[in-house]
Amino acid sequence: MARAFYIKTFGCQMNERDSEIISQSLAQHNYIETMDMDSADLVILNTCSIRAKAEQKVMSLLGQLRRNKAKDPKMQICVAGCVAQQEGLALIERMPHVDLVIGTQHIYGIAKHLEGSQGEGKVVTELSTTYEIPKFLPNLGAADAEYSSSGNSVEFSRFVTIMQGCNNYCTYCVVPYTRGREVSRRFNDIIDEVKVLVDSGVKEITLLGQNVNSYGMTNVVTDDGSPCSFAKLLAAVSRIDGVQRLRFTTSNPKDLSDELMRCFKDLDNLCPQFHLPVQAGSNGVLKRMNRKYTIEKYHDLVNTLRSYRPDIILTTDIIVGFPGETEEEFNETMALLEKIRFDGSFSFKYSDRPGTASMHLADKVPEEEKTRRLTTFQNRQNEISLENNLNHVGKIFKVMVEEKDSDSYRCRADTNHVVHCTSKRELSPGDLVHAVINHAGKHSLKGLILEDEVV
Ligand code: 5AD
Ligand code: SF4
Repeated sequence: MARAFYIKTFGCQMNERDSEIISQSLAQHNYIETMDMDSADLVILNTCSIRAKAEQKVMSLLGQLRRNKAKDPKMQICVAGCVAQQEGLALIERMPHVDLVIGTQHIYGIAKHLEGSQGEGKVVTELSTTYEIPKFLPNLGAADAEYSSSGNSVEFSRFVTIMQGCNNYCTYCVVPYTRGREVSRRFNDIIDEVKVLVDSGVKEITLLGQNVNSYGMTNVVTDDGSPCSFAKLLAAVSRIDGVQRLRFTTSNPKDLSDELMRCFKDLDNLCPQFHLPVQAGSNGVLKRMNRKYTIEKYHDLVNTLRSYRPDIILTTDIIVGFPGETEEEFNETMALLEKIRFDGSFSFKYSDRPGTASMHLADKVPEEEKTRRLTTFQNRQNEISLENNLNHVGKIFKVMVEEKDSDSYRCRADTNHVVHCTSKRELSPGDLVHAVINHAGKHSLKGLILEDEVV
């Protein structure tokens, strides 16, 4: 009889995509996904350890699951992802009701590992530097996507993993330790996966990697051994018939090439939206973070991007309260926000992570001060986001219908704005249409679908 599994995903889009891969691998091994954690025979937590808070959420859910296990000792609990990788055996020692701890490079064999773990704790977390992302990763076509609860639930938009890991060693970051060395997936495997997706009706592709700019730099990705930059991969994916919208994430400013920035000018289906994490506005802090670029270089990049694509929507990540961050240095982050006027940002209080270099830095900023800086930054960002969004009122945006709400359609613009649209005609998920923007909030827009036109 099929076993019911429940999967809960924490963290980034890489993790969302990994959860899809886990779900679909299990579906091929006589498992059926359930939305009800309490009735599941197998509960998988796909975890994130980027900040202490993310990790605490995992630990608290694991604590709760102790009761499920006591009620039904045959049920299995599997911890996957970055906390699993980081904690390994210590996790089973701390949470003895956990059956399987599976690291970030081992999710592809999850069904096999689960068989092996029946009745005894098992840990699979070794990180390999010569690891290869499998040729065929399960992904869902548009028609099947309704069966996917984890990950990207929008039917016409799919993630495609192009690389794993990171070699940058920013001093605050666990990723090199939880995801391992940078490994790029083979060019042809990526192209094949995208072709299968668009042939099944998918319209929007997001290429995923922790550090997409260095795609193809650390291992050979082509059959003939010739070099292949991320920009070349992007252009090749963009040319595949049926790819109507293309996005990618995440980029490090350190190795953002002119060739890649030019893609925003040259590739029609590349969405005018770019997430370019800056982390801080002060050269001193950037240096202590080991980011390997200066604020002047960041400004140059933004100017170039805006010259190639004036309507580009720019978002970023910010860490406030990095060890030793002075009031002046924080004010430089505020000045950067004023100058660039990001359309949106994800901002965080610095959090010490095990194994990272910044953990050992002196002059930790007190918690209340980090909170004050975060609030100051977020309040100003919210004002700027609203001001930028108000400038869109009256403009016509290309949008894709995602879902019907009660009296409107939730759509996603190519700028990545969520746009709640009213429409005189009936629309379906996946329709690509034009909307005139008639209202702006700080996090979303409202619009009216133009009649008689499909993009
Ligand atoms: N503390 C706070 N924020 C962090 N990030 C990464 N590591 C830390 C940390 N130790 C943030 C960065 C990164 C985003 C994914 O999470 O801004 O870009
Ligand atoms: Fe979290 Fe980073 Fe792991 Fe993604 S790669 S799940 S953000 S720790």
